[in-house]
Amino acid sequence: MAFKLNSVVPWGRNMEEYKLMFRLNESDLSGKIAGFGDGPACFNCEMTEKGGSVTSFDPIYQFSKADIEKRIEEVRVIVMQQMSENMDNYVWKNIKNLDELEFTRMSAMRKFLSDYEKGKAEGRYIFHKLPNRLVYEDNYFDIGLSSHFLLMYTSLGYDFHIASMTEMLRVCKEIRIFPIVDLDANKTDLTQKVIDYFKKDFKVEIVKTEYEFQKGENKLLIIRK
Ligand SMILES: C[S@@+](CC[C@H](N)C(=O)[O-])C[C@H]1O[C@@H](n2cnc3c(N)ncnc32)[C@H](O)[C@@H]1O
Repeated sequence: MAFKLNSVVPWGRNMEEYKLMFRLNESDLSGKIAGFGDGPACFNCEMTEKGGSVTSFDPIYQFSKADIEKRIEEVRVIVMQQMSENMDNYVWKNIKNLDELEFTRMSAMRKFLSDYEKGKAEGRYIFHKLPNRLVYEDNYFDIGLSSHFLLMYTSLGYDFHIASMTEMLRVCKEIRIFPIVDLDANKTDLTQKVIDYFKKDFKVEIVKTEYEFQKGENKLLIIRK
C-alpha cells in the first residue's frame, strides 16, 4: 500500500530527549547509531553537529522538504488542540506548559528541516519502510533506536513488529525501543508477546528511564545479541 504523508503525524523530539529516553551514555553516543521512524526529530542533526554518526530511516524521507514542512504546519494545530484537552495525561516537569511544548517541538522540527536536504545528500536520512530489508550487512550499526513508533502503534500487528525488530536486530548489535506502552500509555499484550518471542534468542531487558512526558511511558526495552 502507498505510504501517504497525510496519514502521518510528524512530531519530532530533540537530542536531549533521545538521550533520556534511550539512556544513551557517552560510549553509546560514540557508536554507529540507526534511528528507525526518526521522522522530523532533530537527533540526527544535533548528533552530526557534535561529530556523531546517526543514520535515520523513515518513509517520510521520500517526500520533499516543502511537503514535510506543510504537513508539520497542518499537524501542529491539531496536536496542540488535542494536548490542551488532555493535559492531565502528561507530566509537566521538564516541559512546563503548552507554550513550552509547542516551542520545543517546533524548534526540533525546524532544526530537522534545516538539515534535511544536506542530510539526505550525505545519506543520513534514508527513505525506508520497516520491515523491508535494508542494504546493510549484519551488525553494521552498534545501536538501533525506535522512539514513539514500534510497540506504540499496536494496530500494525504482531507480525509487523516481529518482522521489523528482526530486521533491526540483523543490522544492529542491539536495539532500544521507547516507550513500551500504546498510544494511550496503556500496557499491551503486544509488548509481552514481543518480549516472549525475542527472549528465546536474545538478552531482553526492561529499564526505567528519567524521561516521562506522557504519564506511564517511562520504560525502555533493550534487546541485545
Ligand atoms: C510519532 S513519529 C516519531 C518520530 C521520532 N521518532 C520522535 O520520537 O521524535 C513516528 C514516525 O514513524 C514513522 N513510520 C511510520 N511507518 C513506518 C514504517 N513502516 N517504518 C519506519 N517508520 C515508520 C512515521 O513516518 C513517523 O515519522
